[in-house]
Amino acid sequence: MTAAVIDGKTFAASLRGRIAELAAAFEAKAGRKAGLAVVLVGEDPASQVYVRSKGKQTVEAGMASFEHKLDASTSEADLLALVDRLNNDPAVDGILVQLPMPGHIDEQKVIGAISPDKDVDGFHVVNAGRLAVGQHGFVPCTPLGCLMLLKDRLGSLSGLEAVVIGRSNIVGKPMAQLLLGESCTVTIAHSRTRDLPDVVCRADIVVAAVGRPEMVKGNWIKPGATVIDVGINRLPPAVEGGKGRLVGDVDYASAAEVAGAITPVPGGVGPMTIAVLLRNALVAAHRNAGLALDDDTI
Ligand code: GUN
Repeated sequence: MTAAVIDGKTFAASLRGRIAELAAAFEAKAGRKAGLAVVLVGEDPASQVYVRSKGKQTVEAGMASFEHKLDASTSEADLLALVDRLNNDPAVDGILVQLPMPGHIDEQKVIGAISPDKDVDGFHVVNAGRLAVGQHGFVPCTPLGCLMLLKDRLGSLSGLEAVVIGRSNIVGKPMAQLLLGESCTVTIAHSRTRDLPDVVCRADIVVAAVGRPEMVKGNWIKPGATVIDVGINRLPPAVEGGKGRLVGDVDYASAAEVAGAITPVPGGVGPMTIAVLLRNALVAAHRNAGLALDDDTI
Protein backbone atom coordinates (compact mmCIF):
# COMPACT_ATOMS: atom_id res chain seq x y z
CA MET A 1 0.00 0.00 0.00
CA THR A 2 1.19 3.53 -0.66
CA ALA A 3 -0.10 6.42 1.40
CA ALA A 4 -2.12 9.27 -0.10
CA VAL A 5 -0.04 12.45 -0.22
CA ILE A 6 -1.55 15.35 1.76
CA ASP A 7 -0.90 18.34 -0.49
CA GLY A 8 -0.40 21.26 1.87
CA LYS A 9 0.88 23.48 -0.91
CA THR A 10 -2.41 23.32 -2.83
CA PHE A 11 -4.51 23.53 0.36
CA ALA A 12 -2.58 26.64 1.50
CA ALA A 13 -2.96 28.30 -1.91
CA SER A 14 -6.71 27.75 -1.81
CA LEU A 15 -6.89 29.09 1.77
CA ARG A 16 -4.94 32.21 0.71
CA GLY A 17 -7.40 32.69 -2.16
CA ARG A 18 -10.37 32.70 0.25
CA ILE A 19 -8.51 35.01 2.63
CA ALA A 20 -7.86 37.46 -0.22
CA GLU A 21 -11.61 37.61 -0.98
CA LEU A 22 -12.45 38.20 2.68
CA ALA A 23 -9.66 40.78 3.00
CA ALA A 24 -11.15 42.74 0.08
CA ALA A 25 -14.59 42.57 1.73
CA PHE A 26 -13.03 43.77 5.00
CA GLU A 27 -11.43 46.75 3.25
CA ALA A 28 -14.77 47.69 1.67
CA LYS A 29 -16.55 47.55 5.04
CA ALA A 30 -13.84 49.01 7.32
CA GLY A 31 -12.46 51.62 4.92
CA ARG A 32 -8.92 50.38 5.53
CA LYS A 33 -6.83 47.29 4.85
CA ALA A 34 -6.23 44.63 7.50
CA GLY A 35 -2.66 45.19 8.72
CA LEU A 36 0.06 42.79 9.86
CA ALA A 37 3.33 43.96 11.44
CA VAL A 38 6.34 41.64 11.41
CA VAL A 39 9.41 42.41 13.52
CA LEU A 40 12.78 40.78 12.82
CA VAL A 41 15.73 41.37 15.13
CA GLY A 42 19.08 40.33 13.66
CA GLU A 43 20.14 38.49 10.53
CA ASP A 44 19.30 34.83 11.08
CA PRO A 45 19.20 33.57 7.44
CA ALA A 46 16.19 31.24 7.87
CA SER A 47 14.25 34.02 9.65
CA GLN A 48 15.07 36.47 6.84
CA VAL A 49 13.61 34.04 4.29
CA TYR A 50 10.42 33.56 6.38
CA VAL A 51 9.96 37.29 6.96
CA ARG A 52 10.38 38.10 3.25
CA SER A 53 7.83 35.42 2.40
CA LYS A 54 5.38 36.68 5.03
CA GLY A 55 5.58 40.24 3.70
CA LYS A 56 5.04 39.12 0.11
CA GLN A 57 2.07 36.87 0.90
CA THR A 58 0.48 39.51 3.14
CA VAL A 59 0.48 42.01 0.27
CA GLU A 60 -0.72 39.37 -2.21
CA ALA A 61 -3.69 38.69 0.10
CA GLY A 62 -4.63 42.38 -0.06
CA MET A 63 -3.47 43.27 3.45
CA ALA A 64 -1.04 45.95 4.60
CA SER A 65 2.40 44.66 5.62
CA PHE A 66 4.55 46.62 8.08
CA GLU A 67 8.07 45.27 8.31
CA HIS A 68 10.46 46.31 11.06
CA LYS A 69 14.00 44.99 10.62
CA LEU A 70 16.16 45.80 13.61
CA ASP A 71 19.87 45.40 14.15
CA ALA A 72 20.99 42.32 16.13
CA SER A 73 22.32 44.67 18.83
CA THR A 74 18.90 46.32 19.42
CA SER A 75 18.22 46.54 23.17
CA GLU A 76 15.31 44.78 24.79
CA ALA A 77 13.99 48.20 25.91
CA ASP A 78 13.96 49.50 22.31
CA LEU A 79 12.19 46.34 21.11
CA LEU A 80 9.59 46.67 23.89
CA ALA A 81 9.06 50.31 22.90
CA LEU A 82 8.40 49.25 19.30
CA VAL A 83 5.92 46.57 20.44
CA ASP A 84 4.16 49.24 22.51
CA ARG A 85 3.88 51.54 19.47
CA LEU A 86 2.46 48.71 17.36
CA ASN A 87 -0.01 47.78 20.13
CA ASN A 88 -1.34 51.34 19.94
CA ASP A 89 -1.29 51.72 16.14
CA PRO A 90 -4.86 51.38 14.79
CA ALA A 91 -3.53 50.37 11.33
CA VAL A 92 -1.88 47.28 12.87
CA ASP A 93 -4.22 44.36 13.57
CA GLY A 94 -1.62 41.67 14.11
CA ILE A 95 1.92 41.70 15.49
CA LEU A 96 4.48 38.96 15.00
CA VAL A 97 7.99 39.12 16.44
CA GLN A 98 10.08 36.52 14.65
CA LEU A 99 11.73 33.81 16.80
CA PRO A 100 14.45 33.07 17.70
CA MET A 101 15.48 36.46 19.10
CA PRO A 102 19.11 37.30 19.91
CA GLY A 103 20.36 35.89 23.24
CA HIS A 104 20.32 39.19 25.16
CA ILE A 105 16.57 39.56 24.65
CA ASP A 106 14.09 37.77 26.93
CA GLU A 107 11.65 36.22 24.41
CA GLN A 108 8.92 35.58 26.98
CA LYS A 109 9.05 39.21 28.09
CA VAL A 110 8.66 40.46 24.50
CA ILE A 111 5.84 38.01 23.72
CA GLY A 112 4.15 39.02 26.97
CA ALA A 113 4.28 42.68 25.90
CA ILE A 114 2.24 42.06 22.72
CA SER A 115 -1.45 42.86 23.15
CA PRO A 116 -3.23 39.45 23.32
CA ASP A 117 -5.76 40.83 20.80
CA LYS A 118 -2.95 41.44 18.27
CA ASP A 119 -1.00 38.27 19.09
CA VAL A 120 -1.56 36.47 15.76
CA ASP A 121 1.14 33.91 16.65
CA GLY A 122 -0.94 32.82 19.65
CA PHE A 123 2.18 32.71 21.84
CA HIS A 124 1.00 35.06 24.63
CA VAL A 125 0.11 33.23 27.88
CA VAL A 126 -3.41 34.68 27.64
CA ASN A 127 -3.92 32.99 24.26
CA ALA A 128 -2.29 29.75 25.47
CA GLY A 129 -4.74 29.88 28.40
CA ARG A 130 -7.72 30.60 26.17
CA LEU A 131 -6.81 27.56 24.04
CA ALA A 132 -6.45 25.42 27.15
CA VAL A 133 -9.94 26.32 28.44
CA GLY A 134 -11.62 26.34 25.02
CA GLN A 135 -12.20 30.10 24.66
CA HIS A 136 -11.79 32.05 21.42
CA GLY A 137 -8.29 33.44 21.11
CA PHE A 138 -5.41 33.09 18.69
CA VAL A 139 -3.99 29.63 18.06
CA PRO A 140 -0.37 29.14 16.93
CA CYS A 141 -0.24 28.95 13.13
CA THR A 142 1.61 25.68 12.52
CA PRO A 143 -0.55 23.44 14.73
CA LEU A 144 -3.75 25.10 13.46
CA GLY A 145 -2.55 24.41 9.90
CA CYS A 146 -1.95 20.76 10.84
CA LEU A 147 -5.47 20.53 12.27
CA MET A 148 -6.95 21.96 9.06
CA LEU A 149 -5.13 19.30 7.01
CA LEU A 150 -6.28 16.54 9.38
CA LYS A 151 -9.94 17.60 9.30
CA ASP A 152 -9.84 17.98 5.52
CA ARG A 153 -8.52 14.43 5.26
CA LEU A 154 -10.44 12.64 8.01
CA GLY A 155 -13.57 14.71 8.71
CA SER A 156 -14.44 14.12 12.39
CA LEU A 157 -11.44 13.24 14.58
CA SER A 158 -13.63 12.23 17.52
CA GLY A 159 -12.38 9.19 19.43
CA LEU A 160 -9.18 8.78 17.40
CA GLU A 161 -5.86 8.02 19.10
CA ALA A 162 -3.42 10.87 18.43
CA VAL A 163 0.27 10.88 19.33
CA VAL A 164 2.10 14.21 19.20
CA ILE A 165 5.88 13.85 19.27
CA GLY A 166 7.37 17.07 20.65
CA ARG A 167 6.33 19.34 23.53
CA SER A 168 7.29 22.83 22.35
CA ASN A 169 5.12 25.83 23.14
CA ILE A 170 4.98 26.64 19.41
CA VAL A 171 3.83 23.26 18.07
CA GLY A 172 3.60 20.25 20.42
CA LYS A 173 1.59 21.66 23.32
CA PRO A 174 -0.95 23.67 21.26
CA MET A 175 -1.30 20.73 18.82
CA ALA A 176 -2.21 18.45 21.72
CA GLN A 177 -4.77 21.00 22.98
CA LEU A 178 -6.35 21.28 19.53
CA LEU A 179 -6.61 17.50 19.14
CA LEU A 180 -8.11 17.21 22.63
CA GLY A 181 -10.63 19.88 21.58
CA GLU A 182 -11.58 17.58 18.66
CA SER A 183 -12.16 14.73 21.17
CA CYS A 184 -9.07 12.71 20.28
CA THR A 185 -7.32 10.59 22.90
CA VAL A 186 -4.04 12.47 23.02
CA THR A 187 -0.55 11.36 24.04
CA ILE A 188 2.35 13.81 24.06
CA ALA A 189 5.66 12.02 23.55
CA HIS A 190 9.09 13.65 23.81
CA SER A 191 12.80 12.97 24.12
CA ARG A 192 12.41 11.23 27.48
CA THR A 193 9.52 8.99 26.39
CA ARG A 194 10.33 5.31 26.90
CA ASP A 195 9.66 2.97 24.00
CA LEU A 196 8.60 5.64 21.52
CA PRO A 197 7.93 3.14 18.68
CA ASP A 198 5.47 1.33 20.96
CA VAL A 199 3.66 4.60 21.76
CA VAL A 200 3.53 5.73 18.12
CA CYS A 201 2.22 2.40 16.83
CA ARG A 202 -1.15 2.81 18.58
CA ALA A 203 -1.83 6.16 16.91
CA ASP A 204 -4.45 6.80 14.25
CA ILE A 205 -2.89 10.27 13.94
CA VAL A 206 0.84 10.94 14.33
CA VAL A 207 2.13 14.52 14.47
CA ALA A 208 5.94 14.66 14.45
CA ALA A 209 7.49 17.94 15.64
CA VAL A 210 10.85 17.11 17.14
CA GLY A 211 13.43 18.53 14.74
CA ARG A 212 15.31 15.25 14.26
CA PRO A 213 15.75 14.25 10.62
CA GLU A 214 13.87 11.08 9.59
CA MET A 215 13.54 9.86 13.18
CA VAL A 216 10.07 8.28 12.89
CA LYS A 217 10.33 5.02 10.94
CA GLY A 218 7.71 3.26 8.86
CA ASN A 219 7.65 0.21 11.14
CA TRP A 220 6.48 2.45 14.04
CA ILE A 221 3.34 3.46 12.13
CA LYS A 222 -0.01 1.69 12.44
CA PRO A 223 -1.23 0.63 8.97
CA GLY A 224 -3.58 3.27 7.57
CA ALA A 225 -2.62 6.00 10.09
CA THR A 226 -2.49 9.66 9.08
CA VAL A 227 1.01 11.13 9.48
CA ILE A 228 1.66 14.87 9.78
CA ASP A 229 5.35 15.78 9.55
CA VAL A 230 6.14 19.23 10.94
CA GLY A 231 9.92 18.82 10.68
CA ILE A 232 12.05 20.76 8.23
CA ASN A 233 15.66 19.58 8.49
CA ARG A 234 18.47 20.10 6.03
CA LEU A 235 20.77 17.09 5.66
CA PRO A 236 24.51 17.65 5.14
CA PRO A 237 25.29 18.20 1.44
CA ALA A 238 26.21 15.08 -0.54
CA VAL A 239 28.93 17.03 -2.34
CA GLU A 240 31.02 19.80 -0.88
CA GLY A 241 29.55 23.22 -1.56
CA GLY A 242 26.19 21.69 -2.51
CA LYS A 243 22.88 22.12 -0.71
CA GLY A 244 21.72 19.27 1.51
CA ARG A 245 18.32 17.66 0.94
CA LEU A 246 15.35 18.91 3.02
CA VAL A 247 13.74 16.14 5.06
CA GLY A 248 11.11 15.94 7.77
CA ASP A 249 11.10 14.24 11.17
CA VAL A 250 9.54 11.18 9.49
CA ASP A 251 11.39 8.71 7.29
CA TYR A 252 9.05 9.40 4.36
CA ALA A 253 9.95 6.42 2.14
CA SER A 254 9.28 3.77 4.79
CA ALA A 255 6.31 5.61 6.38
CA ALA A 256 4.54 6.09 3.03
CA GLU A 257 4.45 2.28 2.60
CA VAL A 258 2.39 1.87 5.78
CA ALA A 259 0.44 5.10 6.43
CA GLY A 260 -2.98 5.86 4.96
CA ALA A 261 -1.96 9.48 4.29
CA ILE A 262 1.18 11.52 4.89
CA THR A 263 2.42 15.08 4.42
CA PRO A 264 5.55 15.46 2.27
CA VAL A 265 8.53 17.69 3.10
CA PRO A 266 8.62 20.17 1.48
CA GLY A 267 5.05 20.91 0.34
CA GLY A 268 3.13 19.57 3.36
CA VAL A 269 2.83 21.50 6.61
CA GLY A 270 5.35 24.22 5.66
CA PRO A 271 3.13 26.31 3.34
CA MET A 272 0.26 26.16 5.85
CA THR A 273 2.01 28.27 8.50
CA ILE A 274 1.95 31.58 6.63
CA ALA A 275 -1.54 30.93 5.22
CA VAL A 276 -2.84 30.48 8.79
CA LEU A 277 -0.93 33.58 9.92
CA LEU A 278 -2.86 35.57 7.29
CA ARG A 279 -6.06 33.92 8.49
CA ASN A 280 -5.30 34.94 12.09
CA ALA A 281 -4.49 38.51 10.97
CA LEU A 282 -7.80 38.72 9.12
CA VAL A 283 -9.67 37.44 12.19
CA ALA A 284 -7.82 40.01 14.33
CA ALA A 285 -8.79 42.80 11.91
CA HIS A 286 -12.48 41.89 12.13
CA ARG A 287 -12.40 41.72 15.94
CA ASN A 288 -10.48 44.99 16.23
CA ALA A 289 -12.91 46.73 13.86
CA GLY A 290 -15.97 45.24 15.60
CA LEU A 291 -17.01 43.45 12.40
CA ALA A 292 -18.32 39.90 12.11
CA LEU A 293 -16.37 37.39 10.05
CA ASP A 294 -19.24 35.14 9.13
CA ASP A 295 -17.28 32.51 7.29
CA ASP A 296 -16.36 29.50 9.39
CA THR A 297 -14.54 27.85 6.50
CA ILE A 298 -11.34 29.67 7.31
N1 GUN B 1 10.00 31.14 14.07
C1 GUN B 1 9.70 29.94 13.51
N2 GUN B 1 8.36 29.78 13.41
C2 GUN B 1 7.81 30.91 13.91
C3 GUN B 1 6.46 31.34 14.06
O1 GUN B 1 5.49 30.66 13.72
N3 GUN B 1 6.31 32.58 14.60
C4 GUN B 1 7.36 33.34 15.01
N4 GUN B 1 7.10 34.52 15.55
N5 GUN B 1 8.62 32.97 14.88
C5 GUN B 1 8.83 31.76 14.33
